[in-house]
Amino acid sequence: MTLPIAVLISGSGSNLQALIHRIEQGVLDARIQVVVSNIPGVKGLERAKKHGIHTCVVPHAEYPSRQAHDRAVIDTLHSFGVQAVCLAGYMRLISPDFVQAFPDKILNIHPSLLPGFPGLHAQKQAVDYGVCLSGATVHFVDQELDHGPVIIQAAVPVGPDLGEKEAAQRILALEHRIYPQAVQWLAKGRLHIEQGRVHLLSPQEVTVLASSEPPGLISPGLDPGF
Ligand code: GRF
Repeated sequence: MTLPIAVLISGSGSNLQALIHRIEQGVLDARIQVVVSNIPGVKGLERAKKHGIHTCVVPHAEYPSRQAHDRAVIDTLHSFGVQAVCLAGYMRLISPDFVQAFPDKILNIHPSLLPGFPGLHAQKQAVDYGVCLSGATVHFVDQELDHGPVIIQAAVPVGPDLGEKEAAQRILALEHRIYPQAVQWLAKGRLHIEQGRVHLLSPQEVTVLASSEPPGLISPGLDPGF
């Protein structure tokens, strides 16, 4: 089965591009129903259009509150039959209503090893702090900023001689590798959250979980569809 997703952006959309690339390669079982941006004219919208993907701009400045803006975004996502949401450089804190509209189906990518350095300019925060390793995290989204069960992380060395720009480039290259992988696991039903932690199920475990039938043998076999 192919998972119908939306990708929410506010800018360049290089992570969006990585998702498109993996889908077109046939290794990511998702279909991008719509790309939503809260900012008009950003490069990510062009990237989507080039690949024949629907785009929609929902400018936050035109709504009286975060809740009203999120309501408009949620309605858009529902109208496109979206079942999961990928935040990819979406520079908006999302409201509890939004989180509840897609329970355990909203993913975010953040350019640090969470829980370290949430918020804006994470790469700069890490370099300024003087860490030796930084990286990227894909996580489920909960009510807090850059917070929620961690799905996958990748680390890169960031020494004192490395500037913020180069650190950000190294991290971004890893983001493009781990985000499509996380979405593929979601699409395959392999991400099981228990007590706030993500367990990566094997394909066999997914089959067992998906089967609501009690174990047993039926003979002669049932017709298809029964
Ligand atoms: C990425 O660094 C991502 O981790 C962060 O915003 C940036 C978006 O980059 N949330 P892009 O728009 O995908 O190129």
